[in-house]
Amino acid sequence: MKILILPDAPSACCAVANRMAALLKARPEAVLGLATGGTMEPVYAALIAQAAKGAFCATGFTSFNLDEYVGLAPDHPQSYHHYMRAHLFAPLGLAASNTHLPRGDAPDLEAEAARYEQAITQAGGIDLQLLGIGANGHIGFNEPSSSLVSRTRVKTLTRKTVEDNRRFFAPGETVPGYALTMGIGTVMDARNIVLLATGAHKAQAVAAMVEGPVSASCPASILQMHAHATVVCDREAAGALRMSEYYETVHPEGAEPALTIGPVV
Ligand code: GLP
Repeated sequence: MKILILPDAPSACCAVANRMAALLKARPEAVLGLATGGTMEPVYAALIAQAAKGAFCATGFTSFNLDEYVGLAPDHPQSYHHYMRAHLFAPLGLAASNTHLPRGDAPDLEAEAARYEQAITQAGGIDLQLLGIGANGHIGFNEPSSSLVSRTRVKTLTRKTVEDNRRFFAPGETVPGYALTMGIGTVMDARNIVLLATGAHKAQAVAAMVEGPVSASCPASILQMHAHATVVCDREAAGALRMSEYYETVHPEGAEPALTIGPVV
């Protein structure tokens, strides 16, 4: 697991956007796994700015999002379909046919989950999966106690997650209690994973993910078992890591220098 600690949230978000832009420059037809949430908004803004400067061609990639609220149609303003159109797809000019999210309003959610898994497989799998983290360690909407080998399915949201996400809804509006989410096994199939965490309210979750035991109690801890997982965080989110000094020695300011080891004398 690579742990990159950046000085602040803007630089952490930029570092993630730069990785995505570099991949799209090298492989314009890459398959990206995308995430929602407040953390990702500056990442997508930075990516759009880079595309506008011509850093990469932004219309060739295919995307699969992690999750969607059950019961919300794609045009619902709080749906993740809407979020992705507003924050990334429309500004980039990406064709709707390139983008995929599970349909939370599907009449048969089990069939929709199976269809989604199949679509990811048919696309050749995910090259780079972007993840945020919930304050309780969830990834996608895989709440603590989720099977670490789960596939796309309906999950019941914890009260804490519902409360955390209430800020995106109008006062008095009902926050959905269920979501259709890629499973932890689905996420782990991605060839590369980048998890971004910013802010002190994520510090405990980050510490449990990186330095705690691999456990369904902290779903994100499964990333310890992935061969190509990178955690990018700001100093605040890294605040509870016991080994932060080591991570900062290996990757000063989040840099990834080529390893050059001189002769041992
Ligand atoms: C939701 C999403 C997650 C996201 C999490 C954290 O639960 N399903 O994918 O990581 O929120 O969101 P935020 O970035 O707003 O803290």
